[in-house]
Amino acid sequence: MTKIGLVGLGYWGPNLARNFDELAELSWLCDLDPDLQERFTARYPEARMTGEFDDMLNDPELEAVVIATPAVTHYELAKRALEAGKHVLVEKPPAMNAAEAEDLVSTAEASGRVLLPGHLLLYHPAVRAVKALMDAGELGEVLCVYSNRQNLGKIRADENALWSLGVHDLSVILHLLDEEPAETWAHGNSFLTPGVEDIVFCYLRFPSGKIAHMHLSWLDPHKMRKLTVVGKEKMVVFDDMELERKVTIYEKGPWQPTHTYGEWQTRTGDISSPKIPSDEPLRLECRHFLDLVAGEGDPLRAARDGLAVVRVLEQLQASLVAAPA
Ligand SMILES: NC(=O)c1ccc[n+]([C@@H]2O[C@H](COP(=O)([O-])OP(=O)(O)OC[C@H]3O[C@@H](n4cnc5c(N)ncnc54)[C@H](O)[C@@H]3O)[C@@H](O)[C@H]2O)c1
Repeated sequence: MTKIGLVGLGYWGPNLARNFDELAELSWLCDLDPDLQERFTARYPEARMTGEFDDMLNDPELEAVVIATPAVTHYELAKRALEAGKHVLVEKPPAMNAAEAEDLVSTAEASGRVLLPGHLLLYHPAVRAVKALMDAGELGEVLCVYSNRQNLGKIRADENALWSLGVHDLSVILHLLDEEPAETWAHGNSFLTPGVEDIVFCYLRFPSGKIAHMHLSWLDPHKMRKLTVVGKEKMVVFDDMELERKVTIYEKGPWQPTHTYGEWQTRTGDISSPKIPSDEPLRLECRHFLDLVAGEGDPLRAARDGLAVVRVLEQLQASLVAAPA
């Protein structure tokens, strides 16, 4: 069984600990906080506990490191782990700028190690279903994708809504459309913490002519986790707030009947909802990492896709900073 070391036992780390404890051998845990060290030593007595990341890296038996610390620490910790010869699963975003993300990909390539950024939504069975519909041509020509990721909270002071929330939608939009935008534009404002935008609107235009939009906010009355894809033949909605109807397909679209001499009309048909497996996306992500470590699949493909996400985040951030308030 693959020996895993996990650093970061705050909010998200425990979910990774639970999964890797069940799927692999959780042999090291690491956090700076002594209270968390005590709590997780009690929960995972077989794992060695430390506050020093280097203790884990110095263990020659340890094969892989999972990083669930705050985003600003990802680049440095991931780089050190790769240089120590460990495979790395790093929470999103893998780095705070494209140059560092690129450096991580080259370091992983040079050391022959796996680098997997934790873009959780790519493992969501509903996202896979939407992608399969698009790839099969079911929606016809795809024109537009837009996402809504809004809620009241969780208010963050260290990263803005673009980096904290947008990273999820961006990873999905780039995956679905399979191209990088030629034009990016973001507007937003920081109302609570200076320099940390709470509400951000992003626009992306792709070389193929497709367009995308993201509404990201933690100051909103609606809790929305929704992605809409508008095709010429059908339209599809992924709504993660729905328990059962996660994906809805609308047979709706524009139509140009011959007798109207070029005038556009609309067409409406069935509305259906396919069954979506209830597999936990994080479990699928952890399994994918272990498969890559075992030598199955391209060890760097996801890292290159993650690099594109950071590149576009960086462009959007530059536009956000440049935009008049
Ligand atoms: N995929 C998802 O859906 C999802 C959800 C939530 C968070 N996350 C990601 O998980 C990461 C952690 O987020 P969180 O909300 O759990 O943060 P958190 O602040 O709750 O926890 C981070 C932990 O890391 C520890 N830490 C920081 N630097 C360290 C170091 N150098 N060595 C050892 N320990 C260190 C801190 O003591 C803290 O306990 C972030 O990158 C976040 O984006 C992902």
